[in-house]
Amino acid sequence: MSHDDFPTDETAVVTCGLPYANGDLHIGHLRGNIGADVYARALRRLGQRTAYVCGSDMHGTPIAVNADKEGVDPEEFALRYHEQYKETFDGFDVDFQNYGHTREPSNVELTQDIVRTLEDGGHIVEKEIQVAWDPIEDQPLPDRYVEGTCPYCGEKARGDECDEGCGRHLEPGEVEDPTSVITGNPAEYRERAHKFFRLSDFQEYLQEFIDRLEGTDNARNQPREWIEGELKDWCITRDLDWGIDYPDEEVDLVLYVWVDAPIEYIASTKDYSERVGREEYDWESVWKDEGGEIVHVIGPDIIQHHTVFWPAMLKGAGYNEPRAVMASGFVTLRGKGFSTSRNRAVWAEEYLDEGFDPDLLRFYLATNSGFQQDLDFSWGRFQERVNSELVGTLGNFVYRSLLFAHREYEGTPEVDVSDDVAHRIESAIDDFAAGINDYSVRKAGNAAIELARFGNEYIQRNEPWKLTDESPEEAAQVIRDCVQVAKAIAVLFQPIAPGTAQRLWEQLGESGDVAETTLDAALESPPASFDAPAELFEKIEDDHVAELNERLEVRSAEAEDDESDGSDDDADDGDETEAGADDHEDLEPLVDERISFDEFQGLDLRVGEIVSADPIEGADKLLRLEVDIGHEVRQIVAGLAQLHDADSLPGTRVVVVANLERAELFGVESNGMVLAAGDDADLLTTHGDAPVGTKVR
Ligand code: 2FM
Ligand code: ZN
Repeated sequence: MSHDDFPTDETAVVTCGLPYANGDLHIGHLRGNIGADVYARALRRLGQRTAYVCGSDMHGTPIAVNADKEGVDPEEFALRYHEQYKETFDGFDVDFQNYGHTREPSNVELTQDIVRTLEDGGHIVEKEIQVAWDPIEDQPLPDRYVEGTCPYCGEKARGDECDEGCGRHLEPGEVEDPTSVITGNPAEYRERAHKFFRLSDFQEYLQEFIDRLEGTDNARNQPREWIEGELKDWCITRDLDWGIDYPDEEVDLVLYVWVDAPIEYIASTKDYSERVGREEYDWESVWKDEGGEIVHVIGPDIIQHHTVFWPAMLKGAGYNEPRAVMASGFVTLRGKGFSTSRNRAVWAEEYLDEGFDPDLLRFYLATNSGFQQDLDFSWGRFQERVNSELVGTLGNFVYRSLLFAHREYEGTPEVDVSDDVAHRIESAIDDFAAGINDYSVRKAGNAAIELARFGNEYIQRNEPWKLTDESPEEAAQVIRDCVQVAKAIAVLFQPIAPGTAQRLWEQLGESGDVAETTLDAALESPPASFDAPAELFEKIEDDHVAELNERLEVRSAEAEDDESDGSDDDADDGDETEAGADDHEDLEPLVDERISFDEFQGLDLRVGEIVSADPIEGADKLLRLEVDIGHEVRQIVAGLAQLHDADSLPGTRVVVVANLERAELFGVESNGMVLAAGDDADLLTTHGDAPVGTKVR
């Protein structure tokens, strides 16, 4: 692994959190898979040798419980979903180099091998622990077979996770007042021997690792709290039949699902490498040897697994550590988490059945908000972005330019692209590369949209339709420039919208696959002739959105009824967007007392841009910011130090209360306030081009 900017000379692998083979996929799942796909495709655009691998997570108690309910074998149950997932991902153009599953021989073998190596290294110990037991059925109750109270926060919790409270991973024996999920019987605790991975052996390593780790701020900052405290041994076996056998015949236990699941990242890479040959892609140069660039893309609820348990396992077993972890925010519906069991979701197949182009959702999920921010899905916002940015900006620019070029010149006018426009394209390429190096698929995606916006302004400003008679040379120059901009858009937008980019590529008269090109192609001349173009996107009609909203409305109401009935079958979900999602019940109550419009006007809110962010000695929560608010640069003290990486803040657009009275904190004057939401200090920002200093009304 290097810490040089991408592209590096190393081989890269991008992975995405393995979906449990336990129910239909919804767009919450797609956010991660599409985000990772965009990232991997974008790395390839930069010229980085990259594979994108994933697979289905076949094990774990929710799958065993649900298969049981259906009266089928868990293998048959999980394989059915595995096959379905491959088709669904295909429908969204998610381009895995390998999509395996955790029961494949390659993963079983590698998992057992890694566990043996950890044992040989003295990192695994056996301990007698109390495990939840159903005394009437006389069976153990691992993980989600048991529910009770979280010992840390007192909320209702599953056996392995405090999903409604503090979000902690819970070890067997920790949940209080246990009850069997299957029978409802009060459970008791019985002593059983289990295997534990000695995480504490890796404390020092993890503390150094986290300083090296790249990726999104949530993934880099959240683990600090865990690895600075006491690292408890981690129970890696379960009393279940469903799972990979512990690699010791004397031990009648299976491995905990979280042991074999991430190992599939390696096994899947290895399967790919063996399929295409090591000359083309060598899995060992990524995971072993001199080390490649490993980038994990995950949901927000599995940060601990990927930044604590997993790197410790890799280290203990002699594999390379990840270079970066990119953790997305949740996808919510009216602020509530998706729920597979309650049917509170927008389903992946449902989207495709509506006849929507997959690229529209890819674009929306990848660019609607920063990757680590929660994304509250609504068909209305989806429509708005598609119609304004894809239809109105990008589609409109490309169509009018290519139509004009075809009619007047039968293709690309025979002049060189102007220096100004070539520079504008170069700067879009730089923005794209900077986005990828910032682990921001949104920034990379916006590079193409911004370029299209420029193209529209350019053609509008130069009005080539007025120049064809009076100044044909100028007209040819403008259209030549526009055709080049269209080609650059095809190249830059390909990771986000591969199907659209390919259609545009062909409209430009190009042959071959735009996916095979790198960023250099953006500045290469397009073919001299091409046919009349067709529109790239169709507008989404209001009627269609109204119909979809109505359907979602009914579904959400039913999910709410379900909740108020107190029925709780979420224990069976294993659904990554359930946990931690904002619940309206947790919100602070609205303030009854109203303020007048004049009072609101009294607030001088401004668009600002953070220029610098530095720690303040003695105040571990505070940062000293310098924020440009147009008229001047303000010094503002903000409580962001533990929630944001200071280095990532410069360049961030924020909303500033400019007329707040001055204050002094730790001896540093604060002249204004930066607005942020919630406990994670989610920074308020603007989403268009409002210049720094603009008043927010
Ligand atoms: O939380 C989940 O949905 C798990 N199936 C993710 C596993 S990711 C990895 F580590 F394999
Ligand atoms: Zn808790």
